[in-house]
Amino acid sequence: MKTEFSRFILGLTAAFALPWLLLIVLPYYQLSTIEPELYSEEDEVDAAASYPPAWTGASSDGESVYASSGCIYCHTQMVRPTYAGVDMWRKGWGGNEEDGLARETRPQDYSGDSYAMLGYMRIGQDLANVGTRHTDRAWYHLKLYNARTQVVDSNMPSYKNLYRKRLIDGQVSDNALKLEGRFAVEEGYEVIPTEKAEALVDYLLSRKMDAKIPGQGVEKEVAAASTDK
Ligand code: HEC
Repeated sequence: MKTEFSRFILGLTAAFALPWLLLIVLPYYQLSTIEPELYSEEDEVDAAASYPPAWTGASSDGESVYASSGCIYCHTQMVRPTYAGVDMWRKGWGGNEEDGLARETRPQDYSGDSYAMLGYMRIGQDLANVGTRHTDRAWYHLKLYNARTQVVDSNMPSYKNLYRKRLIDGQVSDNALKLEGRFAVEEGYEVIPTEKAEALVDYLLSRKMDAKIPGQGVEKEVAAASTDK
């Protein structure tokens, strides 16, 4: 009886410990040692640059707005490899297709983030490369203020709390949202983005994982040379 009980406890421990070791501890040690890679001369990228490039703009403030607004419940930031999904066939998801830089996500892509916003559900599109697909700030503000200004039946929630409605002081502000039709506000009022909204848009614009991968240009040339023979 006693041995059966200790076997049960042992089995239970193993059932929890093994997945913990394989899914958490091992990947942690494999991925936490990733360092930025330097470009070599053959890559024809600015010599001082390294991969992945540093994020620009106020994107780290935007990261916390992204986290606290719950965007992660509906959006992922991960272009899956082709064996695991159809992401690479979706236009613009893999990034800059015109320059041949579209690709799957690599672990290094997240090293500039303080937290990798991988997400787990796709009610909306993947946002790993949204900064390549959309480059207009006003477009992002309209989407966040009310997604239905662009997609009639969108079920993305409105983030009006990131905007202020105020009386127009003299003339309309440069950054006021261009709200038309049923979204228009009363005469004499305007809607302007708060700092949080601006930071979130900076963060979204920075979502483009299309930096050249060190050594890849060389590999391609070698491959081309060997097929020439
Ligand atoms: C309840 C789910 C939900 C939440 C939460 C949500 N979204 Fe969305 N989002 C969607 C859906 C659905 C779409 C597609 C329809 C549309 O474009 O409006 C979308 C579309 C988008 C797009 C357009 C993507 C493209 O490629 O056209 C952006 C950008 C976006 N969301 C950003 C955000 C941000 C930033 C947040 C957090 C502040 C957020 N979303 C929160 C559901 C959600």
